[in-house]
Amino acid sequence: MAHACGVDFGTSNSTVGWLRPGKTHSASSSLLALEDGKPTLPSVVFFNADDERVVYGRAAVADYLEGYEGRLMRSLKSLLGTSLIDGQTEVGGRALPFRSLLSQFIGEVKRRAESEAGRPFDSVVLGRPVFFIDDDPQADQLAQDTLAEVARAVGFREIGFQYEPIAAAFDYESQIDREELVLIADIGGGTSDFSLVRLGPQRATRLERRDDILATGGVHIGGTDFDKYLSLAAVMPLLGYGSSLRSGAAIPSSYYFNLATWHTINQAYTRKSVAQLADLARDAADPAKIARLQNLIEDRAGHWLAIQVEDAKIGLSGAASVALELDRLSPPESLAVTRAQFEAAIAQLVDSVGATVRKLFAEAGVAPEAVDTVFFTGGSSGVGLLRERIGALVPGARRVEGDLFGSIGAGLALDAQRKFG
Ligand SMILES: Nc1ncnc2c1ncn2[C@@H]1O[C@H](COP(=O)(O)OP(=O)(O)OP(=O)(O)O)[C@@H](O)[C@H]1O
Ligand SMILES: [Mg+2]
Repeated sequence: MAHACGVDFGTSNSTVGWLRPGKTHSASSSLLALEDGKPTLPSVVFFNADDERVVYGRAAVADYLEGYEGRLMRSLKSLLGTSLIDGQTEVGGRALPFRSLLSQFIGEVKRRAESEAGRPFDSVVLGRPVFFIDDDPQADQLAQDTLAEVARAVGFREIGFQYEPIAAAFDYESQIDREELVLIADIGGGTSDFSLVRLGPQRATRLERRDDILATGGVHIGGTDFDKYLSLAAVMPLLGYGSSLRSGAAIPSSYYFNLATWHTINQAYTRKSVAQLADLARDAADPAKIARLQNLIEDRAGHWLAIQVEDAKIGLSGAASVALELDRLSPPESLAVTRAQFEAAIAQLVDSVGATVRKLFAEAGVAPEAVDTVFFTGGSSGVGLLRERIGALVPGARRVEGDLFGSIGAGLALDAQRKFG
């Protein structure tokens, strides 16, 4: 029986993989249920100030939306490797350091996994994106070190790391019966990660896989960025984004960027930010829009708005147009958002992801035509434009869709057993 587990701490969702005694590996059999029988725990923490308790996952979002006083944090992973991780948010005069919210979340993931497995876990392989931070190796190392510190603080003693797209490769490898050259594409909430790997049943039995990994690459672009750019394009103008002051100067964009970015929403609620906005409001050319913004902030509805935008984005994966019902705005607003609008908003991000894939092939010295299969995982691989762009870069490759939310955790379970037994 494996005594180590794999933890996929995701920007949006987390999973824990463990090879159960007597079970053959698969995503459905290797993932431990973390919330209501489901294998994913959304990476969300809510500090409920009314009841002085900390709530996690779907329950955290539900408490927040029900209107409990408190602080919601999502996208904690995006803070790793930045100076923001040493910051805090405040509610009711009480400081909540992000680092301690992060430890509480990872600790909760560990406790839930242990209770589901019926045994403690001392050893863990943590997934990590190929780059936590783009083009800054020192900050990237700091991100991994911080995650390791947190893992130690919550009681893991042996800690290993694996690239998320390599974990996904191991999961895919357990499903194939012949050798293939595979491009793994893991498009998540915070990052898009790739690996170019030789996989096959024979190779799977080897301990040392370095020669099978032809290249890894990634970029800090994921679903939370799509939410942000859709919000800036379609919603924030309703709150005054892009409008001006009576002097003709532009309203600073920082309020809108903070509100459109999951991990900085709470910064819009600080006393300083609220006071500055009140000053600006007096000089605004379109005071009604700024009043709407002030209202939203007073209502602590930033996450509610981000959730509406994310839901619309997900809807656009299956429909050409969706309705956004913004009933908590004052006055309320209902607007249609089209896929064309969304695709225009994320066009540059999709270009950057495409460039990352081309660079991967250049570095590996492999012709894209040689790829047998492209394997998609991660929730944001639901975005058709992105899947088409990546697919077009490997003409001739068969397209396979994995378990969008489970492949990394399941692959980490295999890696944990190989590393720690
Ligand atoms: N059908 C869909 N179409 C588009 N995007 C989707 C869809 N379903 C989920 N998403 C998005 O996928 C993202 C979450 O995916 P996932 O759980 O794979 O990320 P993660 O593992 O938490 O992040 P990361 O690996 O980057 O740290 C969110 O941004 C979510 O909005
Ligand atoms: Mg992921």
